[in-house]
Amino acid sequence: MPPRTTPRGGGRRDPVDAANARRTLEDEERRGLAEIGSAADLTTLEAAETSLFGRKSAFQEVQRSLGSLGDDERREIGRRTNEVRDGLRRAIAARREALEADRERQLLDADRVDVTLPGRRPRPGSLHPLTIVEYEIVEIFTSMGYRVVEGPEVETEYYNFDALNIPPEHPARRVSDSIYLDVAGHADLLLRTETSAMQIRTMEKQRPPVYVIAPGRVYRNEDVTAKNMPVFHQVEGLAVDEGITFADLKGTLEAFYQALLGDRRVRFTPSFFPFVEPGLSAGALCFVCDGTGCPTCGFEGWFEMMGAGMVHPNVLRGVGYDPERYTGFAFGGGYDRLAMARFNIPDIRMLWEGDVRFLGRFEAAR
Ligand code: PHE
Repeated sequence: MPPRTTPRGGGRRDPVDAANARRTLEDEERRGLAEIGSAADLTTLEAAETSLFGRKSAFQEVQRSLGSLGDDERREIGRRTNEVRDGLRRAIAARREALEADRERQLLDADRVDVTLPGRRPRPGSLHPLTIVEYEIVEIFTSMGYRVVEGPEVETEYYNFDALNIPPEHPARRVSDSIYLDVAGHADLLLRTETSAMQIRTMEKQRPPVYVIAPGRVYRNEDVTAKNMPVFHQVEGLAVDEGITFADLKGTLEAFYQALLGDRRVRFTPSFFPFVEPGLSAGALCFVCDGTGCPTCGFEGWFEMMGAGMVHPNVLRGVGYDPERYTGFAFGGGYDRLAMARFNIPDIRMLWEGDVRFLGRFEAAR
């Protein structure tokens, strides 16, 4: 029912008639209580209030007419007016409270959260397999007493080649193998091709004993294949002290591979690097084909893992160490391949693609 906006029968009554006033008050009380009680929402309740007490309401008319009544009647009608008004006001207040409570409940209902719905799982990040392997390498060597050093990825020919006893005509220096920077006045700048530069930077700064590893990125002008990238990661190792022998080198590398790769077979073969003498190459049995040959190992059955050897006396002399007193070994190897061997990753490119389905699979072992 739409709210009544004009008082029922307004203006029909004779205001000076006390009997009329009494009846009006009875009517308004009954009508008011009924409308208030049936108001289904706050808007309807307010409309009812206006129609009961508004300026043109029958109620106001009665009040206005009081002055024209005799004393007794005025007192009687006045008291009755107050009673009816107070009663209606109380009824309105009670109804308003009830409606407001209803509305509150409705809002809460609309806002209800179903705590039994399955949640949206956050995707936690994880360490990149290369990072995991780097941490493991650092852990293995620091527990043997080595210190971690880091150096620049942009190197000079001096640190990258000259100080490492690499002669000017060596093929590794060619633009076809190395990536030189195009900086006017600095023709000798290149992206380091090996972390071996850190051997020199370290020895220049300290006296023996030296026990350091240097992990980091290196760059070569190479084609991309399943096992080669022009950017990869190497860890260099250097130990210089009195009485260090080839047996120390071999024992250190064996302990390292055992710790990182478990029982996977690793072999050492003679090799040549200008900054070591004698030199060796460490290879791991291919984890994909077990030595029979496959695309991952380039059909060689073995993976070249690192170069190593006894530090060449020319290198020691170059940094002011006495080769008669000190000897040492150095090693350097790519750990992209270590990560591949460690986690059975068949293609080095997977390390660079950033595919979260791939990256989410790796967990540190320790
Ligand atoms: N720097 C060599 C390379 O990149 C590896 C190496 C390091 C060899 C230290 C001997 C000693 O292939």
